[in-house]
Amino acid sequence: MLIIQIILYFTLIFNLLSCLPIDTESTMTHNDDFNTTFSSIKSIENLTSDEIKPELGVFEYLNYTTFYYLTFSPTGQYLFFVKQHPLWYKYTYEHSLWLYNTETEKETLITKDLYSYIKPQWSPSGNYIALFLTKQPVTNITNDHEIWLEPFDFFKSYIFLYSVDSKEFLSIGIKYQIPKVFAWSRDDSSIYFVNDESNKYAYNSNTIYRIDFNRKNSTISTEIHSLKNISFSISEFLFFPSENKLVFTSTSTAIKNFDDSEIYSIDLQNLRSVTRLTNNKIEENQLQLSSDGKNVLFSVGVVLHSAPSNSAQGFYMLNLTNEQTTHFKNYFMGNIMGYAPKAEGGVYILGQWKTNVGIYSQKSSDEGWIYHPGFVGTYASIVSSSNPNCSIAFVYSESQLPMEIYCANNINDLSSAKQITNENELFTQRNLPQIEVYNWTNPDDHRIIEGILHYPPGKFHWTNLPLLVLIHGGPNLASLNQLYGNPYNWAPLAASNGWLVLEPNYRGSTGYGDEFIAELRGKPLSLAGKDILSGVDQLIKDGIADPSKLTVGGCSFGGSLTNWLITQTERFNAALSCSSSFEHVSAWGTVDAPDFYKYWFNGLPWEIPRVYQNEAPIYQMDKVRTPTYICTGGTDERVPASQSYILKRALDSREIPAKLQIFSNEGHQFSSPMSGFTKITEELLWLKKYGKGDN
Ligand SMILES: *[C@@H]1O[C@H](CO)[C@@H](O)[C@H](O)[C@H]1NC(C)=O
Ligand SMILES: *[C@@H]1O[C@H](CO)[C@@H](O)[C@H](O)[C@H]1NC(C)=O
Ligand SMILES: *[C@@H]1O[C@H](CO)[C@@H](O)[C@H](O)[C@H]1NC(C)=O
Ligand SMILES: *[C@@H]1O[C@H](CO)[C@@H](O)[C@H](O)[C@H]1NC(C)=O
Ligand SMILES: *[C@@H]1O[C@H](CO)[C@@H](O)[C@H](O)[C@H]1NC(C)=O
Ligand SMILES: *[C@@H]1O[C@H](CO)[C@@H](O)[C@H](O)[C@H]1NC(C)=O
Ligand SMILES: *[C@@H]1O[C@H](CO)[C@@H](O)[C@H](O)[C@H]1NC(C)=O
Ligand SMILES: *[C@@H]1O[C@H](CO)[C@@H](O)[C@H](O)[C@H]1NC(C)=O
Ligand SMILES: *[C@@H]1O[C@H](CO)[C@@H](O)[C@H](O)[C@H]1NC(C)=O
Repeated sequence: MLIIQIILYFTLIFNLLSCLPIDTESTMTHNDDFNTTFSSIKSIENLTSDEIKPELGVFEYLNYTTFYYLTFSPTGQYLFFVKQHPLWYKYTYEHSLWLYNTETEKETLITKDLYSYIKPQWSPSGNYIALFLTKQPVTNITNDHEIWLEPFDFFKSYIFLYSVDSKEFLSIGIKYQIPKVFAWSRDDSSIYFVNDESNKYAYNSNTIYRIDFNRKNSTISTEIHSLKNISFSISEFLFFPSENKLVFTSTSTAIKNFDDSEIYSIDLQNLRSVTRLTNNKIEENQLQLSSDGKNVLFSVGVVLHSAPSNSAQGFYMLNLTNEQTTHFKNYFMGNIMGYAPKAEGGVYILGQWKTNVGIYSQKSSDEGWIYHPGFVGTYASIVSSSNPNCSIAFVYSESQLPMEIYCANNINDLSSAKQITNENELFTQRNLPQIEVYNWTNPDDHRIIEGILHYPPGKFHWTNLPLLVLIHGGPNLASLNQLYGNPYNWAPLAASNGWLVLEPNYRGSTGYGDEFIAELRGKPLSLAGKDILSGVDQLIKDGIADPSKLTVGGCSFGGSLTNWLITQTERFNAALSCSSSFEHVSAWGTVDAPDFYKYWFNGLPWEIPRVYQNEAPIYQMDKVRTPTYICTGGTDERVPASQSYILKRALDSREIPAKLQIFSNEGHQFSSPMSGFTKITEELLWLKKYGKGDN
């Protein structure tokens, strides 16, 4: 899937080691260089209080905090969570771990140096949090009197145990690479972990280890046992106490094949027995224990290929005694974004329907879903506990409210949830664009398509506005009612710079039913392209968009669609194409997820050469006249930079203004906030230069 994931889990340790700090003052200013593109003339007495607030700047927009890994302690008294925030002068993001006490309602910092690829885990007693750090902790290392030497040594890593009482770290030298995944055992005395020992000779070898802790006074001595070598790659990992088993999912190293993911268990009494528990060729994830500890729950996302009919999106419950899998009944047409086992049994579900994500619950596998009304917008990262003071915690946002963490004590009164963080407060002091859900019809098949319209601040429902069509990636993602400062879906910032922004949820988007996604197969560019262009037609017909000031852009699949659209019409004055593909056979041959092409194009290149050709912009370049800004990560494996080189060469051959910006150390998702800053700054300049059609 060519996706820009919603949460950027990536911290670049390599960057920490190799980059010199820069002078932040000279390269960015708090007040951005951009004057509002189109300023309205109004007398002061006609300004509403919102219009007196300043508008968002580029730097402000990207200086945003996101939250993830929310986890309650076993008693529910504490909640830990991670804040991800740009660390501008180090070209990276900071991942800090915080502990929120539901009794005192105070949060305390555990560390600013969390190694963010591995989720911290509460010990069964709740006395410790086991975690990994990217460097030396603040307290002294007590184990073996080893002093941590920088630079960070991958081949001599430590598990850190943070004591909730003493607020100190104990370090456990494990003398292996940082594990991929780990899980506490039945009590606080041992941890299981998986180390990836794959190399180019012993392809795909993962080893399961157990560390035993022996506590003597304030020191802990450790013993490490190698338990089992597994001949495939393990991705999720769970200890199942009632049967003394480990449960884990397999994954292929690259996303070469969607079929490789299954669930396995191993009996810790009999290490020879590795049992495969599923065989359905769909990707299982989010393994969790049910709250009674008797079953393993897991979820299945959008099913992207012709899987057996019994495998659909939803939740499943696995009984490890009889190895039976039960599918939770699911009549929901939308998209399941996440779930949490409820303390009293059953699950809470985050369900995306059209442009909002709401909270639902399901008591048992054979009962229906119950919708729990609350705030309208986008909920994420839901967790549940038995603590009546904070039985549900989640992240929430809508177009006018930035993401923050909330605590609710009654699922039936979600709108009285209490906000417990205030990291993005600045956004509430800005004059933000107002949004509206807008719909139109694709005239070819009469499908209703909708999208989100972002009006420039103070210009809600104005007419004849300059338009930017900003297309989400995926395609199986969606533009949602949320406020999320990131360099890919930057509609609020473009609107703050005077553009009416349309974010279309074209065919293939989630939240509109399985058929809406499946209809894109076989015509991924042409159908989505038609969906989008008919939206632009409607905006012009309704007098909302100025037909002489149209622009288009997007990243990943949204960039590929941008490339396609400039071959379908000359109406766009400027285009922004980031991390996009341009020629599908070479893309199929070089991307890390070739099944993406097999699925969306409905076959391999030699089976359906016409589809690969007809859907590719390169063969229609003779029709293009739109000046295009192109950007790509130099080390992108999802859509290699070579696709952008082909696009640039094609535009150059046609003598159409084009600029190619390569972020040499970046992949498909940028690891440095500075790359995002440069990208958006350049894009705004490009829109300003070409977008109004007077250049
Ligand atoms: C912003 O606009 C004002 C008034 O038109 C102008 O004097 C100023 O130079 C502009 N600033 C920038 C950074 O373009
Ligand atoms: C301000 O509002 C008044 C009353 O609505 C209106 O008559 C006037 O034209 C407005 N002035 C401007 C500059 O929009
Ligand atoms: C960026 O955000 C952080 C955390 O919210 C804040 O402390 C800092 O002041 C902000 N930086 C600027 C220059 O506004
Ligand atoms: C850490 O421990 C070492 C060895 O016990 C000692 O030499 C050093 O001073 C300690 N450092 C701090 C910061 O306490
Ligand atoms: C634990 O500490 C006590 C007092 O500090 C000491 O008397 C005892 O010998 C220590 N035990 C071990 C096993 O180190
Ligand atoms: C796993 O494989 C390694 C090297 O191939 C070997 O040294 C180790 O003993 C094996 N571990 C187990 C538990 O079989
Ligand atoms: C799991 O299956 C066994 C054997 O069929 C059954 O006795 C047990 O009740 C089941 N467990 C749950 C939690 O349903
Ligand atoms: C709930 O909060 C009250 C005070 O606000 C506190 O006395 C009580 O212990 C809390 N309950 C739990 C289970 O944390
Ligand atoms: C489309 O938008 C119109 C006007 O807002 C609304 O009345 C109608 O219900 C919408 N249709 C759908 C299918 O959402």
